[in-house]
Amino acid sequence: MIIDLKNVSWKRDGKWVLENISWQVKEKEHWCILGLNGSGKTTLLNLINGYIWPTKGEIEILGNKFGKTDLRKLRQSIGWVSSSLQQQLPNDEIAENIVLSGKFASIGLYDQTDEMDKEKADRILFELKCEHLKKRQYQTLSQGERQRILIARALMASPKLLILDEPCTGLDIISREHLLKMIEALTKQPEGPTLIYVTHHVEEVLPCFKKVLLLKNGVVFDSGSTTNLLNAERLSNFYQVPISINRNNGRTWIALKEKDTLTTHVLQ
Ligand SMILES: Nc1ncnc2c1ncn2[C@@H]1O[C@H](COP(=O)(O)OP(=O)(O)OP(=O)(O)O)[C@@H](O)[C@H]1O
Ligand SMILES: [Mg+2]
Repeated sequence: MIIDLKNVSWKRDGKWVLENISWQVKEKEHWCILGLNGSGKTTLLNLINGYIWPTKGEIEILGNKFGKTDLRKLRQSIGWVSSSLQQQLPNDEIAENIVLSGKFASIGLYDQTDEMDKEKADRILFELKCEHLKKRQYQTLSQGERQRILIARALMASPKLLILDEPCTGLDIISREHLLKMIEALTKQPEGPTLIYVTHHVEEVLPCFKKVLLLKNGVVFDSGSTTNLLNAERLSNFYQVPISINRNNGRTWIALKEKDTLTTHVLQ
């Protein structure tokens, strides 16, 4: 089992931000977490990484029961890509060093690296089609290039679990599709990690993500097979507005059914 959450809740300032979350992820079962702004997605990821502690419930990640495990060590087996990480990185660092720092799950590169590390970084950069960016300063990279470097950094430690928190934020449609293609390729690598992809955009749920967790107001609205959950009826219930869907190449695009639906909904 990669992730095993049993009745996990997290309370802050007298409010349950997450309530009674039970979720199991098996090896190589790639999941998407879908939810509107503020539904608790990032909080859930912070719990999984051990950055915050559950108020109630049990967490076991990669076979490590929280409370009986060294979280710093565990975090080295979890790749993590998020916009908050992007903001913490030293802007004047070259891309290659940012990738190498992934070996130590550190924000800057302070530890010694050897030739094997450099070869590994080169190989990952090549696979992600960004070897030409290696000597560039991070701050000179485009948003799409930065995201690829962050994924390369996360892969440096050969993680068993790779968490991508809204990796397509700020990307244009072409860069987004490039990044999604790359993510799809990762799911096909025999030795690759189990992926958790967090988004609020249904169309980013690639066919390789066979499972979806729908999070709403801090509770699991539904979870299970993507094909069962991403239909007009279920999504209309989830968003509480009539939704129409379009399927193309194994992906689902959604739209509000009537153009004045949202106005009506908001005014109600
Ligand atoms: N440390 C905290 N203290 C108080 N409230 C918090 C804290 N962290 C998160 N929250 C609240 O919990 C709710 C869920 O936040 P979270 O960041 O998990 O949402 P999200 O699903 O990731 O949203 P988004 O799609 O906007 O990133 C929000 O209402 C947020 O304000
Ligand atoms: Mg978030």
